[in-house]
Amino acid sequence: MNASEALDLPLLEEGLLCVEPLLNANVVTGDSFLDSVTTHLIAAGGKRLRPLLALAAATGGEREATHDDLMGAVAVELVHLASLYHDDVLDEATIRRNVESVNSRFGNLVAIVAGDYLLARSAAIAASLGTEVAALLAETLAKLCQGQVAEVRSAFQITRSREDYIRAITGKTAALTSTSCRIGALTGGRPTAEVDALTEYGHCFGMVFQIRDDILDITATAGELLKPAGQDLAEGIYNLPTLVALADPDSGPDLRALLGQPLGQPEREKACAIVAASSGIGVAVNEARTYVERARDATSGVSNHALQEGLTQLATELLSDLPG
Ligand code: FPP
Ligand code: MG
Repeated sequence: MNASEALDLPLLEEGLLCVEPLLNANVVTGDSFLDSVTTHLIAAGGKRLRPLLALAAATGGEREATHDDLMGAVAVELVHLASLYHDDVLDEATIRRNVESVNSRFGNLVAIVAGDYLLARSAAIAASLGTEVAALLAETLAKLCQGQVAEVRSAFQITRSREDYIRAITGKTAALTSTSCRIGALTGGRPTAEVDALTEYGHCFGMVFQIRDDILDITATAGELLKPAGQDLAEGIYNLPTLVALADPDSGPDLRALLGQPLGQPEREKACAIVAASSGIGVAVNEARTYVERARDATSGVSNHALQEGLTQLATELLSDLPG
């Protein structure tokens, strides 16, 4: 998915190009070793979805981004990057964005402290944007941590509830996409009703984004994922498709016999095949569709018609590579 193309708003691409050097400039310390760590994932690229959401919410493509708009976009991307530094330590990941992950390249200790450093830089930028943005970013960080802890606590629990799943992804993913839109709407000086509408849109967008990611973990090929399919199953993270498959009398018994413990390669493939063939995929795709509808509804609170259309198209685009 090319997110900028889906949004199809003037001046956004230019705004994103301005974000790139600002990301680097805001994390360099002058210490060449630390700089190689703090810029590692920035250099690896990425979709820059959160900056795009912030800039779209701020400008709607109607004007050039201001310095505050750009710094809001930088702040949310730095939180995202920091969360990946920490997530890769938790997951013992070796690859991220097609390059060696920070933990694998520099070790866990450096990855954690460098992640903290990115958070500190983000907090300083947020403070420069005012107390409302600073408080918002701090609350969002807390939600990310709560979501991540909910996920870690649920590991290998075949009795995990769908509510627990929704709670975890609301925190770990939707909180930051929601805040990205809200910060953009605030730096863009939008009226309160539009700020709230864009915040709701960002929440729904994040929910679709994560549910899609969790479906693709089961249905996509290793080539498409750049990692083996069924990674979440192997790590004991039972997402929506798996929870539905566990509850289905057709697939549940065989799946329960496999899950609840770490999986070897043959068991992982078997579990993945069971979930892929189960009702769980269709239910999860429908859940994603429901959030796209909610995202579309939220955009009706935005006055700029092109922004409404672009945001709806961006959320809809997330469904395009899902089965069914
Ligand atoms: C990637 O998701 C990870 C997240 C969306 C959030 C991780 C959050 C924390 C580690 C909490 C601490 C946060 C901060 C800001 C320090 P994923 O594991 O589903 O996807 P992946 O396959 O890309 O790893
Ligand atoms: Mg992960």
